[in-house]
Amino acid sequence: MRTRRTAGTIIAAFASVLLAGSVAACGNSDTGGGSADDGRITLGFSQVGAESGWRTANTTSIKEAAAEAGIELKFDDAQQKQENQIKAIRNFIQQKVDVIAFSPVVESGWDTVLKEARDADIPVILTDRSVDSADKSLYKTFLGSDFVKEGRLAGEWLVERTRSASGPVNIVELQGTTGSAPANDRKEGFAKAIAANPNLKIVASQSGDFKRADGKQVMEQFLKANPKIDVLFAHNDDMGLGALEAITAAGKVPGKDITIITIDAVKDGMQALADGKFNFIAECSPLLGPQLMDLAKKVHAGEEVPARIETEETTFTQEQAREALPNRRY
Ligand code: AHR
Repeated sequence: MRTRRTAGTIIAAFASVLLAGSVAACGNSDTGGGSADDGRITLGFSQVGAESGWRTANTTSIKEAAAEAGIELKFDDAQQKQENQIKAIRNFIQQKVDVIAFSPVVESGWDTVLKEARDADIPVILTDRSVDSADKSLYKTFLGSDFVKEGRLAGEWLVERTRSASGPVNIVELQGTTGSAPANDRKEGFAKAIAANPNLKIVASQSGDFKRADGKQVMEQFLKANPKIDVLFAHNDDMGLGALEAITAAGKVPGKDITIITIDAVKDGMQALADGKFNFIAECSPLLGPQLMDLAKKVHAGEEVPARIETEETTFTQEQAREALPNRRY
């Protein structure tokens, strides 16, 4: 009797192990099969690169937030190349991660790989930058800034500042990475805003790829080709900081001889603003990690999320930068 009961218990235990195994297998395939062995959500994240102080702060925010949220992060640095991002996303699909997130280096050319992710039942979150795909069902949500607004705020400040100018005000523009959403949108927002003052004229506009060294090099060319530059609009702090070196080397005083407007408000940029070398910064926050992890958990659980989540941002004058700097986190 005792022996028979023991055998029955063994068979029941064996059957329940088999059942648990098949349930777990079903669960995996439902979710794309990517949960880490310990049951944690696996997030594949393709980062643009490490082109700027903003990007470094964004990467830190994402890594710290993943660790805090107990999410297993597979992080890939695309070194500012779209083909690397596409490769990384395909790898994530192959690895059956639970969720894919990425910051698209440029706006166009994502439909094919996004369809592959959708076919594999892996939800995609866009963070920081968006794509121009007409089919919005290719991704669950877009978390990031309103870049057109940032450009507009920069332009509106300049319109106000030059209200009493009687002659032409010559502007040079350092654009971000060609084809990227922030470069396209900031250019558009700024151009629309400065149209309010016919004295404001963009006399040269070129990409500095969001990098300090490129900003310096392009500014050197601008200074050589344009005898009268009144304003520099740089699409990020890093290019503005590079341009500072070129302006100083040309014997001009940044912030006085040339008014400098940038976007981001990372610590180095804020320091330049507080020191009077920059004149105005429109903020772009890189601290997207905690919101991204929250969204990853929600889309993994099949919850509805808003199609667009806009980052809260502000602007800084020199005086406001001096006040804000001591508590600046990035
Ligand atoms: O997409 C955000 C932009 O990318 C930041 O303004 C810039 O600094 C970064 O490289």
